[in-house]
Amino acid sequence: MCGIVGYIGFREAYPILINGLKRLEYRGYDSAGIAVMNGTTNIYKHKGKVAELEETTRTKNIHGTIGMGHTRWATHGVPNDINAHPHSSQHAIFTVIHNGIIENYAKLKEKLEARGYKFVSDTDTEVLANLIEYIYIKGEVSAEIAVRLALAKVVGAYGIVIMCQNEPEQLIAARKGSPLVIGIGNNEYFVASDATPIVEYTNSVIYLNNDNIAVIKRNELTLKTIENLQVTPTVHKLTMDIDAIEKNGFEHFMLKEIFEQPRSINDTFRGRISPLLDEIRLGGLMDILPKIDQAKRIIIIACGTSWHAGLVGEYLIEEFARIPVEVEYGSEFRYRNPIINKDDIIIAISQSGETADTLAAISLAKSKGATVLGICNVVGSSIPRETHAGVYTHAGPEIGVASTKAFTAQVTVLTMFAFMMGHRKKLISNQQYKQLITDLVAIPQKIEHILEMHQEYKRIAELYKDATNFLYLGRGYLFPVALEGALKLKEISYIHAEGYPAAEMKHGPIALIDNKMPVVVIATRDKSYEKICSNIQEVKARKGIVIAIVTEGDTVIKQMADHVLEVPATNEAIAPLTTVVPLQLLSYYIAVMRGCNVDQPRNLAKSVTVE
Ligand code: M6R
Repeated sequence: MCGIVGYIGFREAYPILINGLKRLEYRGYDSAGIAVMNGTTNIYKHKGKVAELEETTRTKNIHGTIGMGHTRWATHGVPNDINAHPHSSQHAIFTVIHNGIIENYAKLKEKLEARGYKFVSDTDTEVLANLIEYIYIKGEVSAEIAVRLALAKVVGAYGIVIMCQNEPEQLIAARKGSPLVIGIGNNEYFVASDATPIVEYTNSVIYLNNDNIAVIKRNELTLKTIENLQVTPTVHKLTMDIDAIEKNGFEHFMLKEIFEQPRSINDTFRGRISPLLDEIRLGGLMDILPKIDQAKRIIIIACGTSWHAGLVGEYLIEEFARIPVEVEYGSEFRYRNPIINKDDIIIAISQSGETADTLAAISLAKSKGATVLGICNVVGSSIPRETHAGVYTHAGPEIGVASTKAFTAQVTVLTMFAFMMGHRKKLISNQQYKQLITDLVAIPQKIEHILEMHQEYKRIAELYKDATNFLYLGRGYLFPVALEGALKLKEISYIHAEGYPAAEMKHGPIALIDNKMPVVVIATRDKSYEKICSNIQEVKARKGIVIAIVTEGDTVIKQMADHVLEVPATNEAIAPLTTVVPLQLLSYYIAVMRGCNVDQPRNLAKSVTVE
């Protein structure tokens, strides 16, 4: 939830930390801080964005070649200067930055208070800093041992970086649940929540595993488990491109990512579709395909937008592969004692690969003997490492908090999976298979065409930017798209929006409709077309305002709707990939016109690494 960056080496730490925090700001942005060690440990932190931290520190002449920085998404304690990280221990021996939650912090705090410790912040992190210091002083042990003994007492999740004033030539980093990546340079190391602050300096990285503690010196890295067993680090090569994490002339990352979709979907296809368009090969699943062939049931687990992609997956897999599918929220699945069989196939979908509820659901499914597959975007993240097999979406880094290209990439993978399984099970003929693949590979070009009309979306956004409520309706494959459209609008523009299966409208939501209610109806030509036309009539009969997403050339809905936005015709099973794009654009322009911070909506963070 928070962003962490650390540096030890021969360069000035300050610019590395500030730039790193800018890259990590999507993870949390209610306060930011840095600590740089140069004889003493100097901490600068306050409420607000990284730019404000930079503004107040740039004239302070901060020098030092060891330091760390943090950008916060508040869990314990409101966003203010005091609760911002880094946190110092009472005697200023230790400085800590932390991503995660120390669940037993209250108990630990009570014990420390009984031993004379006083606390200045409301955070769980300060408790950890003081616990480490207490053990360090009382036990007369090294910083490394104090950290290890302290972490053994902690219940919860953490990615932490620690500096010790008395042992100034090192950083200590540890992970349980919350991700940490270590970048390896020449006589320098970087540590961060993800690789984005590291990629411009080195492409050699180590992904810290759970319960690992790293002691990082300028020219030496020691990796151990929390039980003090030596670990041999595995070095990975980053393939991330620096351009992928810049805005490249777009006003916002979200807009850039919407416009990247033709490219990102092609990247999702790459190497997986035969040149003759007659075969789909998802390399990461090859070893377990026989198991999937035998599956009696697939359970898809995800959160947020990824859950919406999962719903599209349900429709696709049941239609083409005839395997029963259930779609679950990670947070519900993990706590509701679900029935999980050994021959169930679980598909966990996640852009970040770090969502805590999805990860917990995976471990529950694994403990019951199920086979777990991952569909993830971030290479090397936790979910791909926790699952038995999987498929990367290869959409490239998604920085905007509102997910766009990750959704279309997830749906693309699920579509390929459903077609491939249907063909393997001989439910689809060779000819049908080839036609479906041909339709699928035509999608990027169709999205290009939709993007060319973006001025039209601006015009409609201008008309409805002040609405207080929106309704989104769709049927069949387009019902999850309605949910996704509503989520996009509410999370970035703060307009209340609901998505419904169009036919459900009569069972309640219709009461909301009046002449102030914009109703976005996704009504491309498919087998429910007539039915959805009737739903539009029902809205119009109550004076609702209809904005319809229709197939190019549609003349029927044009007569009924207040506005139509056309998308190119396609097979209805892959229409989510085209119809979601107008909804992304509409939300984007409305949010911009309302003056909202599109890339960093209030109260949100990109990856939810806490429950
Ligand atoms: O990284 P994940 O895909 O696991 O994240 C799941 C949700 O937190 C995420 O999709 C969230 O709903 C987005 N902000 C939606 O735009």
